Amino acid sequence: MNVLGIETSCDETAAAVVSEGRVVESSVVSSQIDLHARYGGVVPEIAGRAHVELLVPAVEEAMARAGIERPDAVAATYGPGLVGSLLVGLSAAKGLAMSWGVPFVGVNHLEGHLFAPVIEEPSLRWPLVVLLVSGGHTLLVHAAAPGRYRLLGQTLDDAAGEAFDKVARFLGLGYPGGPAIDRVAKEGDPAAFTFPRAMLGDGYDFSFSGLKTAVVRAVERRPEAATPDVAAAFQDAVVDVLVTKAARAVRATGARGLCLGGGVAANSLLRRRALEAVDVPTYLPSMAMCTDNAAMVAAAGSFRLLRDGPSPLSLAPDPGLFLEFER
Ligand code: KG4
Ligand code: ZN
Repeated sequence: MNVLGIETSCDETAAAVVSEGRVVESSVVSSQIDLHARYGGVVPEIAGRAHVELLVPAVEEAMARAGIERPDAVAATYGPGLVGSLLVGLSAAKGLAMSWGVPFVGVNHLEGHLFAPVIEEPSLRWPLVVLLVSGGHTLLVHAAAPGRYRLLGQTLDDAAGEAFDKVARFLGLGYPGGPAIDRVAKEGDPAAFTFPRAMLGDGYDFSFSGLKTAVVRAVERRPEAATPDVAAAFQDAVVDVLVTKAARAVRATGARGLCLGGGVAANSLLRRRALEAVDVPTYLPSMAMCTDNAAMVAAAGSFRLLRDGPSPLSLAPDPGLFLEFER
């Protein structure tokens, strides 16, 4: 079964064809980063318009590279995300499914991220603890099997990626902030500052807004401080909290693996520390599979189609959609 996946929840216009639920036949991502960079963040109206322009070429390229004229189903992200962006991909997916006469299936973007390791790790063993860290989300999830999720903890304020983006903007490092901080932190001394590790010993929830304030205060007090030192100390604090909690969750739940997902999972320090923190296998998605892409949407769509059947064509975008957790 070939599933065409479409992803337009934020600022990535993506289309991909996945066969047998996990084999990537093609994956095309048109990033809009250049369009949003001069505003220092994603501008929803610009994102929606860009999806309209970029989506059809992305779908055509994904189909051509996969060498197929008609997929067996079309999957698209219906939330969470920006409503004007979601609408573009969702409407296109429904129209394509109708014109080809194949099923349409709506995909939860967060579940999509959870399918990245399914695509890349043939040896994946469940249950897993998944740390999903992106610009919009910071979740610690126990996944007993595909589709069977339990929320262990989440951020109470800023997402981890949002903290990277805000601190990078404050330090004048540009947008997106995560890769910029990752890069300059390599030249810095993480011990130059000791930033707070909020809620470190306390459950599985996260809080990053105090850390951002602490960075601003520290730079106000020491304006001569070297930017790489500030970036390195900040990154160290974020990664310390993320890895400590994820490792504790692995031990407490007896999970057989730890997975990272979401854009922040591209962070080099996070990847290194996660590998060292647990004695079960750690699955680190490739950079392309960490950030938003449509292969993960097609994989999650294949699973949902087989398990729950097609979605109705009346399925509306749901900007605030959350993962469905077992009780
Ligand atoms: O998953 P994603 O592509 O989009 C969503 O938010 O859904 O994640 C983007 C986020 C941004 O906040 C970006 O700054 C962060 O991931 N990011 C990183 C790195 N690369 C991307 N954060 C830290 N280190 C990185 N190397
Ligand atoms: Zn994402």
